[in-house]
Amino acid sequence: MSVLKLVILFTCLLHSLIEAEVVYNGSSTAKDDWWKHTTFYQIYPRSFKDSDGDGLGDLNGIISKLQYLVDAGITATWLSPISKSPGVDAGYDISDFRDIDEKFGTMSDFDRLIKAAHELGIKVILDFVPNHASYQHVWFQLSKNRTKGYEDYFIWKKGYNSTTPPNNWLSRFDYSAWEYVAERDEYYYHQFTTSQPDLNFRNPKVVQEMKLGNHDRDRVATRLGVENVDGYNMMVAFLPGTAVTYNGEEIGMENGEVTWEEGQDPGACNGLESDFKTKLPFHRVLMTEAYSNISVDMLHYGNGTVEGAHFPFNFFIITDTEYNSTANEIISVIKKWFQHMPSGHVSNWVLGNHDRDRVATRLGVENVDGYNMMVAFLPGIAVTYNGEEIGMENGEVTWEEGQDPGACNGLESDFKTVSRDFERTPFHWDSSVNAGFSTGNKTWLPVSSKYKTNNLELQSKDGVKSHFHVYQDLMKLRKEDTLIYGNLNVEVLATYVLAFTRELDGNDTYVFIFNKGNYSTSVSLSSFKSLSGNVTVVLSSTNSSRNKGDTLSTASIIMDAHEAIIAKSRSNVSVCWNIYTILLIMVLLFRIS
Ligand SMILES: *[C@@H]1O[C@H](CO)[C@@H](O)[C@H](O)[C@H]1NC(C)=O
Ligand SMILES: *[C@@H]1O[C@H](CO)[C@@H](O)[C@H](O)[C@H]1NC(C)=O
Ligand SMILES: *[C@@H]1O[C@H](CO)[C@@H](O)[C@H](O)[C@H]1NC(C)=O
Ligand SMILES: *[C@@H]1O[C@H](CO)[C@@H](O)[C@H](O)[C@H]1NC(C)=O
Ligand SMILES: *[C@@H]1O[C@H](CO)[C@@H](O)[C@H](O)[C@H]1NC(C)=O
Ligand SMILES: *[C@@H]1O[C@H](CO)[C@@H](O)[C@H](O)[C@H]1NC(C)=O
Ligand SMILES: *[C@@H]1O[C@H](CO)[C@@H](O)[C@H](O)[C@H]1NC(C)=O
Ligand SMILES: *[C@@H]1O[C@H](CO)[C@@H](O)[C@H](O)[C@H]1NC(C)=O
Ligand SMILES: *[C@@H]1O[C@H](CO)[C@@H](O)[C@H](O)[C@H]1NC(C)=O
Ligand SMILES: *[C@@H]1O[C@H](CO)[C@@H](O)[C@H](O)[C@H]1NC(C)=O
Ligand SMILES: *[C@@H]1O[C@H](CO)[C@@H](O)[C@H](O)[C@H]1NC(C)=O
Ligand SMILES: *[C@@H]1O[C@H](CO)[C@@H](O)[C@H](O)[C@H]1NC(C)=O
Repeated sequence: MSVLKLVILFTCLLHSLIEAEVVYNGSSTAKDDWWKHTTFYQIYPRSFKDSDGDGLGDLNGIISKLQYLVDAGITATWLSPISKSPGVDAGYDISDFRDIDEKFGTMSDFDRLIKAAHELGIKVILDFVPNHASYQHVWFQLSKNRTKGYEDYFIWKKGYNSTTPPNNWLSRFDYSAWEYVAERDEYYYHQFTTSQPDLNFRNPKVVQEMKLGNHDRDRVATRLGVENVDGYNMMVAFLPGTAVTYNGEEIGMENGEVTWEEGQDPGACNGLESDFKTKLPFHRVLMTEAYSNISVDMLHYGNGTVEGAHFPFNFFIITDTEYNSTANEIISVIKKWFQHMPSGHVSNWVLGNHDRDRVATRLGVENVDGYNMMVAFLPGIAVTYNGEEIGMENGEVTWEEGQDPGACNGLESDFKTVSRDFERTPFHWDSSVNAGFSTGNKTWLPVSSKYKTNNLELQSKDGVKSHFHVYQDLMKLRKEDTLIYGNLNVEVLATYVLAFTRELDGNDTYVFIFNKGNYSTSVSLSSFKSLSGNVTVVLSSTNSSRNKGDTLSTASIIMDAHEAIIAKSRSNVSVCWNIYTILLIMVLLFRIS
């Protein structure tokens, strides 16, 4: 072989080595069902909009703001629990799965909401919380006094005596997971508060009660309008019927620390997921919420024999990244999902929710646009918790004002770190009293004082650069074929600068560049072979000096601290230096020699 050939070969290899990595082949993100590429907007009903001045958000409030969702570019929303509940755990303690809580409205308000949303082209997803019921649920009342047929609806167990429970398992809130009931002289099991007894999913009757029957108006979720609802989010999906295997008996108090996690059996809830998925009318979606490790999460996609959900929420950006994370760390978290996701399924990205600090608080106000752009740019489903589109920060809530039982049952000194009230404060609609959330004298959680400088009204003004305007543009951009079907390539450009491209034959290539660091940094996009020459800015973060239409040279771009940009380049298929071209050249070279 001639020296020249060796040189060419070496150059080709080098070229392929420095090429940005294709981590996802977008062609499997089919557009054949509406949810596969949508943005789910999570509404926390208590804090979204109060229509009657009682200080608590409600269904009519949501109805009055549906047009806002349209303006933002949202086409699917999911509501945190609205079922009847004494509200010990903000509605996750359900006393009637078949009715709407009067705090939020009536069944006919709910029907109106669905109708109005559908008229505006918005899908509505409901939360479904199968793990436990409220202690006020009639099933628990009947189970407590051993009414025939209901004895085993919950997980009952003899203790040593009335003060020493069967074992030392702890609830999520760090006290015993067992509560004594004198009436039965037994303990019931609860992974959450004592007001939330776990349902016994080893009892086929319970499974039957919780199943979705298409036309049986007596079944749980059916009563919440399965004919109309566009899907369900199954909360704490890994928990039903799991922790108590009664192996617990063998684990005496003296045998050391045992917590509820050790009793988990991720397969146990599959029956329910499978039932929901197969019985949900076509074009309905089933998502699951479970904070598990990646391998357990993936089980929720199903495994070929057992049907799972359409997707389990991907919380890893929340749990595995933080303010100081490097570009490399963030990219690893993104790649992790793709590496584990079974083929043919759809990815999803969650930045925040009602259980975690606000994005602005956790990852920096100055990085809000960059993160919103990042999840919107990635293939698959994006999830937005209400308020993140305007970059709301955590609210201010004192110990006395606290509502979250997880914190209120604990120590005052732990309140700041444990309470989830901070991310649940009311939405900032405008600059008026209570941020336009409520006309009442008192709101269920205090409205953050930050609403005066950060609210939707201010951010919606024509011509201002704002988180909301960035968000609106993102929702439009997500309709581009490249962002739906395109391949994803990722690259670390500098310690705190990351970049992705989305590429699709015959379509524009898009590039996202995000400097999350504190210093301006010069970067080059030369490792993205589909980009060449100049790219044109289509969207930039609030503080960026770049504007739509500006051109940037791919050879060198100075990214300001916290600046994020999305730019595009005309497709350049002919000279696409991908690995296949290189392989082809190599094969030809060897053939010739
Ligand atoms: C992506 O997948 C599709 C179908 O599975 C395949 O035809 C195509 O060649 C793949 N593209 C790349 C770049 O891997
Ligand atoms: C058991 O409790 C239910 C619900 O509170 C009540 O209607 C029923 O009469 C009770 N049965 C007995 C035998 O006490
Ligand atoms: C309850 O049982 C535990 C464990 O056997 C024992 O240590 C404790 O003294 C008992 N308490 C009462 C009041 O009998
Ligand atoms: C994930 O969790 C399951 C169940 O708790 C456990 O069996 C498994 O080893 C864990 N996997 C990893 C990779 O940690
Ligand atoms: C799928 O999961 C079920 C239940 O956990 C199990 O019985 C079955 O063997 C699994 N199938 C495959 C292909 O892994
Ligand atoms: C980020 O890292 C710096 C330097 O290590 C440290 O001082 C700072 O507290 C960290 N900030 C956060 C929010 O973790
Ligand atoms: C924009 O820059 C100003 C001044 O540095 C800063 O106070 C503000 O927080 C930044 N806003 C955003 C959204 O990054
Ligand atoms: C609000 O407070 C005013 C004055 O304290 C009182 O007159 C009014 O009835 C209160 N309104 C409501 C809805 O509680
Ligand atoms: C862009 O991609 C879509 C989907 O693959 C394709 O149908 C369309 O023809 C492409 N556009 C051009 C100009 O090639
Ligand atoms: C960036 O600046 C912030 C605020 O001054 C600081 O908390 C953080 O630690 C800095 N980040 C790094 C990586 O040094
Ligand atoms: C590329 O952009 C630079 C500025 O970033 C500009 O000076 C140059 O003329 C542009 N080249 C082309 C071919 O548009
Ligand atoms: C395509 O890319 C090559 C370099 O890889 C460049 O020379 C050429 O001008 C580009 N063509 C277009 C139409 O942008």
